[in-house]
Formats: sequence, structure tokens, C-alpha cells
Amino acid sequence: MFVLAHISDPHLAPLPRPHWSELMGKRATGFLNWHRKRRLIHRAEVLARVTADLQASTPDHITVTGDLVNISAAGEYAPARAWLESLGTSADVSLVPGNHDVYVRGASAHLRSHWGEFMRDDDIRNVGFPFLRRRGPLALIGLSSAVATAPFMATGRLGGEQIARLAQALDRCAREELFRVVLIHHPPVSSARRHFKRLVDGREFCAVLAQHGAELVLHGHDHVHSLVHLEGPQRPIPVVGAPSASQAPRPGHDPAGYNLCRIKGQAGAWSCEVRPRSCPRWRRHDRVQANIALATMSRTSGYFPLVLGLPAGARQFLTSAGNTLPNGLARRKSRAVHSGLSGSAAMPAWMRASSASESKRAFRLALIMNSVYCLACPVADYWHQRPYIQAVQNRCAASRSL
Ligand SMILES: [Fe+2]
Repeated sequence: MFVLAHISDPHLAPLPRPHWSELMGKRATGFLNWHRKRRLIHRAEVLARVTADLQASTPDHITVTGDLVNISAAGEYAPARAWLESLGTSADVSLVPGNHDVYVRGASAHLRSHWGEFMRDDDIRNVGFPFLRRRGPLALIGLSSAVATAPFMATGRLGGEQIARLAQALDRCAREELFRVVLIHHPPVSSARRHFKRLVDGREFCAVLAQHGAELVLHGHDHVHSLVHLEGPQRPIPVVGAPSASQAPRPGHDPAGYNLCRIKGQAGAWSCEVRPRSCPRWRRHDRVQANIALATMSRTSGYFPLVLGLPAGARQFLTSAGNTLPNGLARRKSRAVHSGLSGSAAMPAWMRASSASESKRAFRLALIMNSVYCLACPVADYWHQRPYIQAVQNRCAASRSL
């Protein structure tokens, strides 16, 4: 029996401080997104626990289906290599990149220089993708669907040349009677909800699998345990997804985990059992800490009115500078004039506020209101999290007394 481990999307934390020149274009939105939300989801302590569990199960080989880093900053690749080396040597660990590993153009160079050995074909004369590694009865065929995309997009693409080479590799390995495992970051098919995160040429990929066959497809990207079957030439092909190896437990989301595939038999009579491993048992205060992270995250959305308030303040400032009424008041005033009720008698006193000093007063008021909101948010945050913090403190005190 051959035991193949499948781990994916570790999104290694913490995010090293990028150089300011790196925070251009898509990396800027990714950086903000990390600090606003993702750093609370992808936890180093969770990944450490999952990695330890994986190593304890002593698989014969480990596959990693991408998204090791977060925004492809130069400083992220070396720690990711150290993590790969903690799993095993490059002979025992196979890697395919994810969209976060090639977040922007030019990131592929980092990928090759730091992780190249983990993505190398058995025949070193073959460079690029797909790579082919033979391990025991297995043929591991690694694809790269990682391409740089526009902000807020996470689509993948294989390209015609890679798909054609995949077909050749599948045929060659079938002739060698190997158990063919295709590794890819993006799932071959996605729901309409994940249209902007799909594999763009998934249809072509599925057509090759339907014609040439494969015994197993392993992927990441969706951050959930999943199993679907694709059409194959003789029998359906199982397509197995793994969750993120670092995500903190959240309601409605799969906890961190990985898959263990136990493969035995021979060509024509293979048997493959996939056992999903979820994060080892959580102690109560771990769950509480995760709740704190989530509470903070939900409170972050409370800052939105502040953001809305700023343009209003800026408009007031511009209004005062030009000594004209704000848009809303101007419209109401002109409507009153056109209705024939002109002059001060037609308007209440507050509507006649057209002087620069009154506009400045309004601007100052907006500024004060925003400042009050700014100060109130952290207090509200603390108040909201207080029960959770209290529970953690109690738990810590209890564990000390044991
Ligand atoms: Fe991911």
C-alpha cells in the first residue's frame, strides 16, 4: 500500500512587511485584505498543528496544491521554502503553485528560484509544467494553473500547450500501468458563485481527462473538503479537494485539514481510499480565541460608516471654499425660487445658511462626529469581545491551577 498525503493552501502567516515599492496594483488590495480579514483566518498555530498531524501519519509522499504565500511579496518565499523543507525533502514532497503564489506578473521568478526542486520533473531536462514524478506505483503529474490576474480576480489557466503535454503524459503513464494522480490548484469545475475564481479552460481540461483518463485528481483553492467525479474513458475519475491547512474554525466553514490517500492494487484493479483529516481536537479556549478573531472581523465592518462620512466632510470643505451651498440645499433652494415663493419668507432659517462661516461650522461638526466615531469603535470592539476575553482568561487561570 502507498500512502499519499495531500495538503493545500497553507497561506503562511505572518505576512512579512513588504517593501513599499511592492505595494502597487493588486498587491495593495491583497495587503489590505490580509490585514483586514485573512490574517484572522489563516493562523500559524493552526498550520503547525495540522503539519504535526500529517508528519505523525508518516505518508510515503506528500503533495502540496498551492497557495503557500499570500501576496507574492519577495520576503514570503524563503519562509515558505522552510515550511516545505519541514515536510520533507524535495524528493518526498511535490508542489504545484496556486494563484496567490503568482499574485502579480514577475512572481514566477521567485517561485522557480525558491521552490524549483519541489516542482521538478524526474527527468531534469524537462522544465516547466506538467512535471512527471514516478513514486512507487504512482505517477504524479503536476500542472500549473497559476497566472497573474486583475485585482479581485482569482481565475486560473492551463493553456493549450500544457493541456496537450498533459494528454501525452497521461497516455505514457497508462502504458506503464501507473496509478495516475493529477495535481492542480484550481478545481476543474466551479459553481457559478465562484465564476471569478474558476479554471478558465476547465472544459478543455475535463475533455482531456475524459479521453485519456486518470485515476485521481487532487486540488485546493476552494478551502473545503470536496469530492466530485468527472467522466473518464472507462470509469468516473474522482476529483478530491482539500481545505486550507491553516484556517481557524469558523461557523459554516471547513476546519483546517488535509487528505490521506491509501492506494493499493494494480492496473485495472486499483483501490484508493481517501481519508479526510480535520484539525485535531480543539481545546475549548482555542475555539474561544477563534471567536475573538471573528468578533474583531465582524466589528471591522462597523468602520464603514466612517469611510462614508469622510467624503461628506470633504464635500463640506469644498463647499465652504467655494462659498456655495451643498448640493442638497442648493437644489431645495432653487426649487423654492422656481415655485414663485422666492425670498427669505419661502424658506426656513436653516435653508438660508449660505455663508462660508456656516459651511465651515458644518464641516467642523462632521469632523467632530467622525472623531467621536473613531474613538467609539475600539471601545465598542472591546465591549463586544469582553465575554470572549473573560472566558479565555478564566480558561487560562483554570489550566494554570491544574
Ligand atoms: Fe487559497
